Amino acid sequence: MKLMLILCFSKLRCLHVSQFPHSGSFVSNLHTQYLPSYTKTINWNTTHSFVRTNPLLSLLERCKSLIQLKQIQAQMILTGLIYDSFAASRLIAFCALSESRTLDYCTKILYNTQHPNVFSWNVTIRGYLESGNVEGTLLLYKRMLQYGMLLPDNHTYPLLLKACSYSSLNFVGLSILGHVLKFGFEFDIFVHNALITMLLSYGEFETAYDVFNKSCVRDLVTWNSIISGCVKRGLANEALDLYWEMEAEKVKPNEITMIGMVSSCSQLQDLNLGRKFHQYIEEHRLDLTIPLANALMDMYVKCGDLMAARVLFDNMAQKTLVSWTTMVLGYARFGFLDVARELLYEIPEKNVVPWNAFISGCVEAKRSKEALTLFHEMQVSNVKPDEITMVNCLSACSQLGALDVGIWLHHYIRKHNFSLDVALGTALVDMYAKCGNISRALQVFQQMPQRNRLTWTAIICGLALHGNAHDAIFYFLEMIRTGLMPDEITFLGILSACCHGGLVEQGRQYFNQMSSKFNISPKLKHYSCMVDLLGRAGHLEEAEELIQNMPIAADAAVWGALFFACRVHGNVLIGERVALKLLELEPEDSGTYVLLANMYGEAKMWREARHARKLMKKRGVEKTPGCSSIEVNGIVHEFVVRDTSHPLSGQICDYLISLTRQIELLGLTPDISAFGDNTFP
Ligand SMILES: *[C@@H]1O[C@H](CO)[C@@H](O)[C@H](O)[C@H]1NC(C)=O
Ligand SMILES: *[C@@H]1O[C@H](CO)[C@@H](O)[C@H](O)[C@H]1NC(C)=O
Ligand SMILES: *[C@@H]1O[C@H](CO)[C@@H](O)[C@H](O)[C@H]1NC(C)=O
Ligand SMILES: *[C@@H]1O[C@H](CO)[C@@H](O)[C@H](O)[C@H]1NC(C)=O
Ligand SMILES: *[C@@H]1O[C@H](CO)[C@@H](O)[C@H](O)[C@H]1NC(C)=O
Ligand SMILES: *[C@@H]1O[C@H](CO)[C@@H](O)[C@H](O)[C@H]1NC(C)=O
Repeated sequence: MKLMLILCFSKLRCLHVSQFPHSGSFVSNLHTQYLPSYTKTINWNTTHSFVRTNPLLSLLERCKSLIQLKQIQAQMILTGLIYDSFAASRLIAFCALSESRTLDYCTKILYNTQHPNVFSWNVTIRGYLESGNVEGTLLLYKRMLQYGMLLPDNHTYPLLLKACSYSSLNFVGLSILGHVLKFGFEFDIFVHNALITMLLSYGEFETAYDVFNKSCVRDLVTWNSIISGCVKRGLANEALDLYWEMEAEKVKPNEITMIGMVSSCSQLQDLNLGRKFHQYIEEHRLDLTIPLANALMDMYVKCGDLMAARVLFDNMAQKTLVSWTTMVLGYARFGFLDVARELLYEIPEKNVVPWNAFISGCVEAKRSKEALTLFHEMQVSNVKPDEITMVNCLSACSQLGALDVGIWLHHYIRKHNFSLDVALGTALVDMYAKCGNISRALQVFQQMPQRNRLTWTAIICGLALHGNAHDAIFYFLEMIRTGLMPDEITFLGILSACCHGGLVEQGRQYFNQMSSKFNISPKLKHYSCMVDLLGRAGHLEEAEELIQNMPIAADAAVWGALFFACRVHGNVLIGERVALKLLELEPEDSGTYVLLANMYGEAKMWREARHARKLMKKRGVEKTPGCSSIEVNGIVHEFVVRDTSHPLSGQICDYLISLTRQIELLGLTPDISAFGDNTFP
């Protein structure tokens, strides 16, 4: 990429200004809706001597509305003052920057001024940028170049670069960069800092760092730009390294640097380091601004120190919606739903954001039933759900297997014209796949205009879950063909597909490809999947060897998969060895004792079987109850082993028994050993 950039530079260097893309469509599909709104209003007032001496201009400085402005403008036309480009620029500045901003009128005056100065262009560009109109900002720049009499200055480029960093069109930004180099502004510190921010927003960390490292102009703002750029891109380690470098160069950090540092700790979930920065802030008496306090709270919540976050929250003189939302999310995530709800209802002016935080916190805390209840509560409170609400509720459905609610949400999404963007589409695919209707999942998948890695992963895992091994492999190969990189979860899906389909050879191949081709080191889950695959197919020795050669210590799930295979294949020799390993790792797990005893029993080794049961009694192991849930007609029913609290418990048990009989009639023996020995009715 770096090489490409350099090529771009050299190409752009020889571009004539008039060759700048003119089509007008090059900015047409910029996404402007996520632009942060500026809160700071810039004073457009001036103390220029001309203003002080000219009565019309000094009147203009006190102007309050567009109507007054038009009266003054009329006077300026009558007196001919309008032909003075400085005087005209005052009119333009009022329209662009004052509280009663009117950009249409602003450009009208600008385009009708005979010789607008750079200042006029600057303020208009700034006005467009501050109102969040990236497209307009860039088009104005184009007009400015076309006008041809003036060259942009070192105030123009930071505005343009900032506009580019909000857009997703890298080539526009790179063209502007070409102009920066062409007009020789790369050594201007304002331009320089804006350039670093823009490069980081494109994910070009290395290029940005290179620009940063090579620069001879560097101030605290430069450090802050590169640090906060890293944090925004999730490069927390790089941000921290930069901070140590900055400290070594004896540059004093300020509040903005600290926001970056605290956010890095929160990304890395490093509570100790986070506390150290908090201490630093207090010791050096840095101003605990609202954003900094919010960042600290977020860090404490993410690192699990809810009390510290609460103390900060309670001491805040002024709480913003972000502060409230952080606390609501924190309490929800740790399962304190009552406290979260109390806070939610206390928020003075709330919109959909804290509701979304609450719902997603519930989903994270695996309290999905409550998440769906909240969704209803939210609608009763007249808060309009948005795409994020939908994504969270769909994840709740996925967790619960609540297909009916999921279908209802899908209707809701269609009825309210939510756009099927990548996040929402992926959530739908995942919901249908996990709730058992893979054909609908495939349908949504086909309808999606754009898909990312997560979408492909959801469909691959869904197909695996439904036992469609060959389709899963087909989609996996298709995904790679479209140029997307599979991740750990994709591989988990593909390996479990191979496992369900008994495709040993393919399984081995994909498992090896993980590290050799995609540079992903297998995790415990991949190993247990692979062991399961080999074990089911009867390759018990190979599976045991795989475990012994693992670079990480095998956990109970990995050994458990092998143990299961040993039981299926009646291999007491390996099974015994594996069971002892399992008992070492999880002496409290009743299942292992029971299964071991059953295995001995099946091999008619009665003495050993009795011994295993005795050992369990001696160790005082309690059976942990199994639990499952199912949704019927929109109501979620939960079942815990031996729990008879369900109103239809008797009938359900009767039906289970009759099912078992039917299975036996077919000449099969139902395998109920997995339930333990005395839990089945
Ligand atoms: C602009 O400055 C003048 C005097 O310098 C002052 O009287 C006037 O109120 C100011 N206008 C605004 C909008 O700040
Ligand atoms: C525009 O550029 C002029 C110098 O040409 C500068 O004085 C002014 O502050 C700039 N205005 C804005 C809004 O950036
Ligand atoms: C902009 O450039 C002018 C002259 O080229 C210089 O005097 C001024 O300090 C620069 N402004 C900034 C903010 O870099
Ligand atoms: C930064 O520049 C210095 C020389 O100015 C060089 O020694 C160092 O390796 C550079 N760092 C990186 C990461 O490129
Ligand atoms: C959704 O779009 C259709 C047609 O474009 C329109 O008739 C309907 O009113 C819209 N619904 C909502 C809730 O905006
Ligand atoms: C999945 O949904 C389709 C309707 O889109 C339906 O015809 C089909 O029976 C459903 N399949 C299952 C397994 O529920």
